[in-house]
Amino acid sequence: MTHLAVVGNPANRRVTLFQAAAARAGRPAVPVYPWRDVLTSGRVPGPGTVVRIDSPGEDADVDQLLRVLGGGDPAVRAEHGEILGTAAAHAGLGRALDRVAAGGGELLNQIADILTMSDKPRCHAVLAAAGVPVPAALAPVNSYEALRAAMSAAGWGRAFVKPAHGSSASGVLALAVSGRQVRATTSTELAADGRLFNNRRVRCYDDPERVAAIVDRLAPDGLHVERWYPKAGFDNRVLDLRVVVTAGDPGHVVVRTSRSPMTNLHLGNARGDLARVRAAAGERAWAAAMRTCVRVARCFPRTLHVAVDLMFRADWNDHAVAEVNAFGDLLPGLLAGGRDTYDAQLAALTDGRFRHWTDAP
Ligand SMILES: Nc1ncnc2c1ncn2[C@@H]1O[C@H](COP(=O)(O)OP(=O)(O)O)[C@@H](O)[C@H]1O
Ligand SMILES: [Mg+2]
Repeated sequence: MTHLAVVGNPANRRVTLFQAAAARAGRPAVPVYPWRDVLTSGRVPGPGTVVRIDSPGEDADVDQLLRVLGGGDPAVRAEHGEILGTAAAHAGLGRALDRVAAGGGELLNQIADILTMSDKPRCHAVLAAAGVPVPAALAPVNSYEALRAAMSAAGWGRAFVKPAHGSSASGVLALAVSGRQVRATTSTELAADGRLFNNRRVRCYDDPERVAAIVDRLAPDGLHVERWYPKAGFDNRVLDLRVVVTAGDPGHVVVRTSRSPMTNLHLGNARGDLARVRAAAGERAWAAAMRTCVRVARCFPRTLHVAVDLMFRADWNDHAVAEVNAFGDLLPGLLAGGRDTYDAQLAALTDGRFRHWTDAP
């Protein structure tokens, strides 16, 4: 039997749920190599281990270590919730992942894939090149002024502005403009001193100067700007799907519904009724959406699982992918065929589907 190991933050629920799934499968206890150690002492799993790389997120010290490794100023530390140095953190993640790879373990998720998925412009380009439906995107913009000019040139009144290396809706703005009027809906808070904080309350800014201040603060770390895709919904809520594709199987799906344009569940949004969504879409549109998710996974064929954020268009006749997450398999309590996402990953390893699924017709 292979020896599993996890690189992650030990308190992270994804880590403990994976360990629990391994215990259910009768496997030996799965050791965790904390990101903190990877970044300080360089301790990583060695040859002969099969390694799950988990998110370095949700740990302020690890965030700081990543930023510094990626060239960020060691003297500057983020306050709780502060959006800071996302480009440096991404660069640091690249270096940290190289250390993990150098340890010689067999990786369940490939370094290059993790880095692509956590770089929204790059991931968008990879998906578009593979024929995956994605919202139209603007060429890079480096300021609010450039953003407005590019939106006008494209004839767009509405856009989603996303930090290139963000996650969990942090720094995301749903922007609607009309002449001098602006409305930005976001979970980002602009502090009096100009710093940005991500929190769980979604708010609206309609003062152009404040919207410009937010965008200009985020822009140096890179922005990804997409056309606002009109999402389907019911009962005054919009929705999208989180689809976890494991070894090519889009087996775990949750509906995320929201009264705001952001559906991320940690913002207090509710899981929706899957059967109702499936019925509204119809079997043909549903099957096409699931095929798209599999096609996304095929862009990352040596990675065991990917988590796709999939939007249906308001008329249900079309769909598009908002993003792909490398660390998006935390769907507690969601069972498919009696298996949670972690059971499904282990099953794909045990029965050999992981190594061979890309060869399937
Ligand atoms: N182009 C778009 N049009 C409409 N909604 C979008 C678009 N892109 C993202 N969203 C919504 O915004 C939220 C966050 O976007 P996402 O790209 O998944 O970034 P994050 O990494 O912050 O989760 C999701 O609810 C998603 O449905
Ligand atoms: Mg998302």
